[in-house]
Amino acid sequence: MSNSNPIGFFDSGVGGTSVWKEVVQLLPHENTIYLADSAHAPYGRKPQEEITKLCIKNTEYLINRGCKLIAIPCNTATTNSIAYLREHYEVPFIGIEPAIKPAALNSKTGKIGILATQGTLSSELFNRTQKAFTKDVNTIEIVGTGIVELIEAGKKDSEEMRNLLVGITEPFMISGIDYLVLGCSHYPYIKNMLQELLPSRVKIIDSGAAVARQTLHILKEFHLLNQQEILGTHELYSNRNTTVLDVLTSKIQNREVHFLDF
Ligand code: DGL
Repeated sequence: MSNSNPIGFFDSGVGGTSVWKEVVQLLPHENTIYLADSAHAPYGRKPQEEITKLCIKNTEYLINRGCKLIAIPCNTATTNSIAYLREHYEVPFIGIEPAIKPAALNSKTGKIGILATQGTLSSELFNRTQKAFTKDVNTIEIVGTGIVELIEAGKKDSEEMRNLLVGITEPFMISGIDYLVLGCSHYPYIKNMLQELLPSRVKIIDSGAAVARQTLHILKEFHLLNQQEILGTHELYSNRNTTVLDVLTSKIQNREVHFLDF
């Protein structure tokens, strides 16, 4: 395995690019390949077995492309399938989980909100983490039904999204939370709208920067950091419409967006 081999990423769609951007920013010399499995989004309403099958397909594509490490910037895929993947493939994996711990540790009201997909909230891994870190706080968990579909359709800033979020945030409004954990990689794209709708005391946190730090840590541990001094190159693939993927990643240098039937 050469250090200049790419880091592979996959998500149920375009949402994981919010995390991919954090990695590219922290590790500008790394080459990357990103798979947006938008044709099968959302993963969040699928049974675990089906999510794992999709994760296997994505993983095998990235391994065949020579990826030295695979990051899964998808909470639903991580919480349902990363254990299986780690057991069956040698390549190191990095997953993403809702940032419950910092929210619970820093909450002053003792109430934190978690916004995630049904698949994440019902997973064993999420429930284990939740139990471990929320002994002294109340958690208000809400499924973000419909949010992923609108983001995938390029409607993250639409009136339709605002109306949807008014309903979704209502339980957070009345419960007195002071932290909202975004437990889905698509949701950083609606962070500003959520912040406008919620009281200003509510801090909204996601796990993107933590995933980037963990990627650096694992690359160092496996002696896989790319030593090249030029900027990395990035190939992004969607198996649906490439426009949204293109728009969301347009500020990153050296990237190409392609359609791929996978
Ligand atoms: N972006 C994914 C996550 O972080 C999944 C959203 C979905 O496909 O339901 O959970």
